[in-house]
Amino acid sequence: MTRTAVRGGLVITAAEETRADVLVEDGRIAALATPDSDFARSWTVDRTFDATGKYVIPGGVDAHTHLDFPFGGTASSDTFETGTRAAAWGGTTTVVDFAVQPRGGALREGLDTWHAKAQGTCAIDYAFHMILSDVTEGALKEMDLLVGEGVTSYKLFMAYPGVFYSDDGQILRAMQRAAGNGGLIMMHAENGIAIDVLVEQALAAGHTEPRHHGEVRKALLEAEATHRAIQLARVAGSPLYVVHVSAREALAELAQARDAGLPVFGETCPQYLFLSTDNLAEPGFEGAKYVCSTPLRPQEHQEALWRGLRTDDLQVVSTDHCPFCFSGQKELGRGDFSKIPNGLPGVENRMDLLHQAVVEGRISRRRWIEIACAAPARMFGLAPHKGSIVPGGDADLVIYDPHAQQTLSARTHHMNVDYSAYEGRRITGQVETVLSRGEPVIDGRRFTGRAGHGRYVPRTTCQYLT
Ligand code: URP
Ligand code: ZN
Ligand code: ZN
Repeated sequence: MTRTAVRGGLVITAAEETRADVLVEDGRIAALATPDSDFARSWTVDRTFDATGKYVIPGGVDAHTHLDFPFGGTASSDTFETGTRAAAWGGTTTVVDFAVQPRGGALREGLDTWHAKAQGTCAIDYAFHMILSDVTEGALKEMDLLVGEGVTSYKLFMAYPGVFYSDDGQILRAMQRAAGNGGLIMMHAENGIAIDVLVEQALAAGHTEPRHHGEVRKALLEAEATHRAIQLARVAGSPLYVVHVSAREALAELAQARDAGLPVFGETCPQYLFLSTDNLAEPGFEGAKYVCSTPLRPQEHQEALWRGLRTDDLQVVSTDHCPFCFSGQKELGRGDFSKIPNGLPGVENRMDLLHQAVVEGRISRRRWIEIACAAPARMFGLAPHKGSIVPGGDADLVIYDPHAQQTLSARTHHMNVDYSAYEGRRITGQVETVLSRGEPVIDGRRFTGRAGHGRYVPRTTCQYLT
């Protein structure tokens, strides 16, 4: 039996902050004890980590990644190996990635493909949602089976006609099925049919630069789709989780639904909290680095999102990590913004950026842990093993130095992408050591993990509803 102690740190969970020593036994949290207490002194351990002056926090849970994801005529540039290693560097110990149902194919086929990509390659633990790209009777039946196997959440798209798009009838059927089998529908809420008209008109008018990506994907079309998704979920009697919320008008729809007591949840991402249409409008073709959907919004939307995180109208911050290199990938859209692959890198940056928000007084330390660790774990059926520090839970722990200074840069990050969306941004705070089920994967800012340490984690249904 391997025993490890993490001593002297400030243990922060979503529920409390307390000075405590943490005992890890065979990959699980065995006990917490007051430092220097007789109990803490009685532990005999193989290894001790000194966390004096540091935070001890649960490993981050990033519930929205796209690793090795074929999209936009290319594939996201992080594999499960590189992406999960970068996640570990950034203090994330679990990712929930999106397996894709092939169009005209079975869910099982998509899930098998994603298992094959991830098996034996991951540095940290992983789970899968499923993208429903073809809502057939067969797919709906398979959903029941897969919920039972731990794939308990399904993403539908109101955007991307001809790729992942589902019409309202398909969405309603999937929601009805989820209402019966305990699945959680995750919605990409943008009116893709209307957006495609605006794209066509913009290109015809010669508006080809990256900033037009933001202009055609209007906030009102995000709000309209969000409203429609909420009404469809009400009709179906299913809960709803809206992914990557960026527009304050869409957030207002969520807030209204939640005020009415509906089981409606929302996620935003660091790019919407820290970046804006100013980035999309950067000169030359630089704006392509910031093309994602939903798009970045004018700066005034950021305040509304921060507020939504404080008031719990938004519950989760995930990254929607979907990196494409500038060179050779984003460049596919030179001369036609609609051909720029949609997606931003960020899996390594999320915990730090949110800590910076703590430093700047936007959120409390506990709220940081809630939105980045505890809430995604509960939302997606990973608690109590993930997202917290409780006896019996997985020893996914981060020793975080709240005073370290760092500058985010493509020169120093570990994501397999040739630019940083946050180049030059100064951050107070840095991950020092990361344990994944008790194993050091980052040890004093050295990578000590290995491909294949990460295990597949089957999930239970959404724990926000019980
Ligand atoms: O631009 C984005 N968000 N790319 C990834 C696919 C998606 O819609 O989440
Ligand atoms: Zn999406
Ligand atoms: Zn996504």
